Amino acid sequence: MNGPQIRVLPDLPSLASAAAEHIRASAELSIRLTGRFSIALAGGQTPRTLYQLLANPPFTSQIDWSRVEVFFGDERCVPPDDPESNFRMANEMLLDHVPVPYEHVFRIQGEIEPEQAAIEYGRMLKARFGDGGLDLVLLGMGDDGHTASLFPGSAALAEKHHRCVANYVDKLGKWRVTMTAPFINRAYEVLFVVAGQGKAKVVREVLEGTSDLDPATYPVQMIRPVSGRLSWYLDALAADM
Ligand code: 6PG
Repeated sequence: MNGPQIRVLPDLPSLASAAAEHIRASAELSIRLTGRFSIALAGGQTPRTLYQLLANPPFTSQIDWSRVEVFFGDERCVPPDDPESNFRMANEMLLDHVPVPYEHVFRIQGEIEPEQAAIEYGRMLKARFGDGGLDLVLLGMGDDGHTASLFPGSAALAEKHHRCVANYVDKLGKWRVTMTAPFINRAYEVLFVVAGQGKAKVVREVLEGTSDLDPATYPVQMIRPVSGRLSWYLDALAADM
């Protein structure tokens, strides 16, 4: 596998703009080739600016949203209207503003028992993708090296078969539901969007190889697409430049 594409942008707005253009281009290609574009959205704060860009001109008209299918890389175990919900954030920032058909938005049911939510989401992913993966998985990264809800030392890191699992996160004292690394790695491409000084140490160790491969410590190192493209979009702070 070729190394990741790494782009460093001066600040969060330019990072979001570059990522939005990346997603637009990926969507255009996928829709042209397959008639659809399946994307898993990330939660947290970093993607908010990106989602707001995609929810406004020119992206509202440059992407054929009727062909887009929206999934979630992970979800907090809360109702969809909870301030903590990744679905709520994505809905407010993006989905409420673009004409993605309702039946094309696949929410992880954070309001039900975590194991059941994971089973149902995994069954849906299997039905839609079989042994394949998404067209694009958008991911963020925490300053502890977690991505999606694959946190250091958590049980989900050991999952080899299921596409989605419930994962208890000790440091948060909370359950999460997350896509697993094996499923994420089946994607046609994975795009990381990472910003902020707090992430610089892990970015350096993960991308510059200043630490041995240690996914238990840095789960983000588990994200290595089997045959897909891997891109890291960083702001100058996360790239420590
Ligand atoms: C979540 C996200 C998570 C996020 C990182 C980075 O549910 O919180 O999926 O993996 O991407 O925690 O979050 P920030 O973008 O807020 O730094």
